[in-house]
Amino acid sequence: MIRSDEGMKCAALMPEHFLDPETSFSGEPQKTPFNRTYGTDLPFFDWYAKEENEAYRRRFGLAMLGSRKFEPANAILLGFKWEDLPKGSKVVDVGGGIGSLSLIIAEAIPDLNFVIQDSKLTVTHAVEFWNVKMPSALESGRVKLQAHDFFTPQPVKDASVFLLRSILHDWSDPYVRKILKNLRVSATPETKLVIADAIVPYSCNAAVTEGIPGASKEAVPVPLLPSLGKANSYAYQADMSMWAYFNGQNRTLGHSISLSEECGWKVVHVHYIPGSSIGQIVCVPM
Ligand SMILES: C[S@@+](CC[C@H](N)C(=O)[O-])C[C@H]1O[C@@H](n2cnc3c(N)ncnc32)[C@H](O)[C@@H]1O
Repeated sequence: MIRSDEGMKCAALMPEHFLDPETSFSGEPQKTPFNRTYGTDLPFFDWYAKEENEAYRRRFGLAMLGSRKFEPANAILLGFKWEDLPKGSKVVDVGGGIGSLSLIIAEAIPDLNFVIQDSKLTVTHAVEFWNVKMPSALESGRVKLQAHDFFTPQPVKDASVFLLRSILHDWSDPYVRKILKNLRVSATPETKLVIADAIVPYSCNAAVTEGIPGASKEAVPVPLLPSLGKANSYAYQADMSMWAYFNGQNRTLGHSISLSEECGWKVVHVHYIPGSSIGQIVCVPM
């Protein structure tokens, strides 16, 4: 429904957006096809936060929940080895929403602690969620819910892991740099950064011959394209949606590596999760 309502309406005005010199190359979150379509200067999530848009906001929350079904329920456990973290390690779920992803990790690995950060409004919903799903975690302090804007300095200075799931694809490169730099400043030498986002497959074998890490894993026999074409269209469709709503995008692995390195994060592992287009890019401080 969200695709056929906000999605298709925004898509209809994309040609005007890209032909207008004022907006065609914009990476600003309030100069998007969404803004043109809905006649607002507010970024997508700020518009959702308005009282009169509660129905849209709730539907978006349901869509996020539904989108989990696009991948194995435990996908977050199938790449990065959460179980190898020392007992008592702190995972900071940055822009973690109500914390539904952290809940999956918390249920599987009882020795980890969590700080789930999001906007003030989302944190109030998160309190309700955790009070139902795992009230003991709030009572014991194992899970903390914190209002935090990821464009401001990161307050947690002893994180074992900063987790960014479905965050960076909402933003253009200049904004991604701000998010990654704020995390880098607050990282210890041992902190890991886990970026869970769609990794856009390359459509040609050039990536393999150029030696871009991970590219060879995507290679498939000729005459198939390494991207698998239409059979693997989700990453591309979602890429267009991110553009329409946020001036964001899904990124190739090469793009993510260069952005991370510019911000002081070195990519050390890339996990492709079977049955999911969302991969996990693991970084350490450079
Ligand atoms: C696509 S959702 C992903 C939520 C969660 N990481 C997940 O995978 O379920 C993006 C989240 O980023 C949050 N967000 C947007 N701008 C933010 C900001 N400046 N600071 C903190 N959180 C923000 C939104 O409220 C939303 O919960």
